[in-house]
Amino acid sequence: MALLLVNNQRYTVDLPADTPLLWVLRDHLNLPGTKYGCGMALCGACTVHIDGLPTRSCTLPLSLLKPGARITTIEGLKTKEGKAVQTAWEKLDGPQCGYCQSGQIMSASALLASNRNPSDADIDASMAGNICRCATYVRIRAAVHEAAKSIG
Ligand code: FES
Ligand code: FES
Repeated sequence: MALLLVNNQRYTVDLPADTPLLWVLRDHLNLPGTKYGCGMALCGACTVHIDGLPTRSCTLPLSLLKPGARITTIEGLKTKEGKAVQTAWEKLDGPQCGYCQSGQIMSASALLASNRNPSDADIDASMAGNICRCATYVRIRAAVHEAAKSIG
């Protein structure tokens, strides 16, 4: 039995300890915004925040979650940075197929929480683990700058 705090709601799940957090979110908590891409911590599609830090949920088993850890998914991303990023994404029409974009937004909002004025190099370095098969990287970078500008 595991107690989880997801998007400020408490959940109790009765699942094997090696169940990846991604499966818990998608299959048991009805939070499908976090995507499955590679299952090997290589693509970033499954990125969530754990205590504010971007984390790959596909390779994180329940057993490694610290008690009381705050898990945030795209559905619960309500921080100032998160809202600014989502607004900028819409404004600049960033996504193409959209599959990678929740992971991109989770990484971008975490970046802005720690760096309010990231350079292109900062963005590229911070988001290098978020792969986009549609190659929307130029628009993603522009949207991060737009979000940074909007929160000053
Ligand atoms: S699905 Fe988790 S990093 Fe690709
Ligand atoms: S928008 Fe299609 S994979 Fe990124």
